[in-house]
Amino acid sequence: MTVSHWPAALHLFAYDATQSALNPGGAQATRIAHLWWIFFWVLLVIFALVLLFLLSALLRRRVVNEGLEPVIDPPKEEPGLTAVVSTAVVLTVLVLFALLVRDFFTGNKIYSLSDAGAVGIKLTGHQWWWEVQYQDPEPSRIVTTANEIHIPIGRVVKFELASTDVIHSFWVPNLHGKRDLVPGHPTTVLLKADRAGEYRGQCAEFCGFQHAHMRLLIVAEKPERFEAWLDAQRQDSPAPATESARLGHDVFVSSQCVMCHTIAGTGARATLGPDLSHIGSRITLATGSFPNTRGYLAGWIANPQSLKPGVLMPPNELAPDALNALVDYLESLK
Ligand code: CUA
Repeated sequence: MTVSHWPAALHLFAYDATQSALNPGGAQATRIAHLWWIFFWVLLVIFALVLLFLLSALLRRRVVNEGLEPVIDPPKEEPGLTAVVSTAVVLTVLVLFALLVRDFFTGNKIYSLSDAGAVGIKLTGHQWWWEVQYQDPEPSRIVTTANEIHIPIGRVVKFELASTDVIHSFWVPNLHGKRDLVPGHPTTVLLKADRAGEYRGQCAEFCGFQHAHMRLLIVAEKPERFEAWLDAQRQDSPAPATESARLGHDVFVSSQCVMCHTIAGTGARATLGPDLSHIGSRITLATGSFPNTRGYLAGWIANPQSLKPGVLMPPNELAPDALNALVDYLESLK
């Protein structure tokens, strides 16, 4: 992920190609982008015509009868005007109908993927993070991770969407349209990436305080790279290799961290917060909010509220040495 150095105010004008419906990374998004451009050009022409007519009406010479009381004439029949208005109404209806048909056609095409041989991913929305679970008929091969979703290019991915609290919405503009995650109403969406790359997503339904920071990252990659990544995620977390990491491991398993998080291969098995088994291999922290660097990780553990007010994670008052060791340990979990 590219971390932008634009001043905050300029973000309004900075174009991010990794989160844009007009930079499609798959066939579905290509169709949506195509439809968008058709609407754009048709509406631009209509807008120009309307302005043209308005301008010509404004510039018409008016009869000024100074000093006289206005005279109200009986309405005149203007056959020319009636014809113009009728033609405009018919044209408007025809244009709207043509756009409706094109829209229907696009909708039909983007939902025509087949889920045969698809990668199955269960995506659960939480306030304010995404739980990601790669399905497998064999339970021991199921992979749980969070906020970063690797997918193979050229293969359909079937997302089963669910929410445990409020309504969220799954939206990765470079790949597909939006789909809501409604508590108690699981649904599915199929998508396929054709071009490798990192695509940013965003929760697209207001879901509370940190809605704006409920991001996600899709890493679309070659099938062999994807399989290698998935295999690595299936493994237990690596055992601590250094003295400091060993100390950090002990800090983790003996503190309140284990009340919420899982690290596979340790005693930590809670599922209230994101699975941390391979957190060292992730690109971002706090649901796509910050780059996964040592500083942000330490700051996040010590005082998450200062970075993401309202987050459910409590602060952790650790001695500096313990915090340092904990960061060493978490960074080693590749
Ligand atoms: Cu989740 Cu907005």
